[in-house]
Amino acid sequence: MVQQISIIDAKAHVNEQVKIGVWLTDKRSSGKIAFLQLRDGTAFFQGVLVKSNVAPEVFQLAKELHQEASFWVYGEIHADTRSKFGYEIEISNLKLVGKSEDYPITPKEHGIDFLMDERHLWLRHKRPHAIMEVRNEIIRATYQFFNEREFTKIDAPILTGSAPEGTTELFHTEYFGRDAYLSQSGQLYEEAGALAFGKVFSFGPTFRAEESKTRRHLIEFWMIEPEMAYMHQEESLQIQEEYVAFLVQNVLDHCDYALDILGRDKAVLAKYTKLPYQRISYDQAIEMLQKGGFDVKWGVDFGSPEETYLADQFDQPVFVLNYPKAIKPFYMLPHPTREDVVICADLLAPEGYGEIIGGSERATDYDYLLAQIKQAGLDPAEYEWYLDLRRYGSVPHSGFGLGLERAITWICGLEHVREAIPFPRLLNRIYP
Ligand code: 4AD
Ligand code: MG
Repeated sequence: MVQQISIIDAKAHVNEQVKIGVWLTDKRSSGKIAFLQLRDGTAFFQGVLVKSNVAPEVFQLAKELHQEASFWVYGEIHADTRSKFGYEIEISNLKLVGKSEDYPITPKEHGIDFLMDERHLWLRHKRPHAIMEVRNEIIRATYQFFNEREFTKIDAPILTGSAPEGTTELFHTEYFGRDAYLSQSGQLYEEAGALAFGKVFSFGPTFRAEESKTRRHLIEFWMIEPEMAYMHQEESLQIQEEYVAFLVQNVLDHCDYALDILGRDKAVLAKYTKLPYQRISYDQAIEMLQKGGFDVKWGVDFGSPEETYLADQFDQPVFVLNYPKAIKPFYMLPHPTREDVVICADLLAPEGYGEIIGGSERATDYDYLLAQIKQAGLDPAEYEWYLDLRRYGSVPHSGFGLGLERAITWICGLEHVREAIPFPRLLNRIYP
């Protein structure tokens, strides 16, 4: 019996007879030789079929295969110096598994809307495949980073009665005669977790009914939310920058081939692994923007042009600290000496990718928090459990949320966040 291998492992099987379950991505043939472009999910490479070396019906079958037909290839692995992948298979036999006809995504150029309609098939192609490999690496490295630092993963619920990030972007649903919402953030539950386990994180889907149609906004996205008890903001910022640098380093170390397919400049990425990242205050950011010709007044929130301009002043991610209280959520710790700002930071990615992390130190005082909840127009009854965290052994604690798809979009150098998730949910898209 010949052994079954994966394309990605070809290197370990040079000059061996193997079989691989594959799909056809493209082909070229002359009368005497056929070049089949193959993929098996792990990687892409070429199969070569020489007419004089195989049975006539095998060569005939190869000529009749359509794009995305599935079949077993049998043959010998050879080094292939002409391809970046470095290996190919000299095919001795083929066995058809599933035929394919009129596959819609032909090798020519297609528009993005068409490709998104065909997303279930488009995922098979090289570019989405490379992006999903980077996504997978970032997920893997995330668990490694927090496990090595002894964080406990505490999963936050998806159905919830709370609205940590404001009530305008909530997805409402009915919950057996009561109101419920899809989670905007696991944070409030992570705070309960931090007071129970010290250092915790969640990693789950979050939902924002944002009616904004931008390159950075998804309706459904994944967020990593660490929360640490007995920790002030400065220490949290250090964890944030170490985490981001760790993600970039691991993508550089493990996704070389994917980065090549995406055309991402690795020397640029390498700069993002150098720490520390700079910190500027919101006040300084306003000054920089005004000097740069932006018509902004102290107190406004930044949109994408402002974030891009600020990030462009640095060649690494930059923290913007202590935003106005009025534009931030209710739970942030007030500044000890200033009424108008809170102890928080956004991490802005370079190259126009904008905010990838939002975080803060959390308010610890019961009365302050209750007043803030009321002022935000929220129902204190829904937050009784959250207020308990301030009733029973309240401690300084800090945390943050990294948007997975924002980080992928930046690290891969993509134009739009929709390519960073397998099946994007956008303002005008819930198919497929
Ligand atoms: O800044 P945000 O809203 O912060 C929170 O939700 C906090 N509760 C996090 C925490 O402290 N535990 O969101 C955090 C991050 C943003 O920096 C961004 O990367 C991402 O989530 N994000 C989105 N990503 C894609 N599409 C959207 N609509 C996003 N909204 C936020
Ligand atoms: Mg934010």
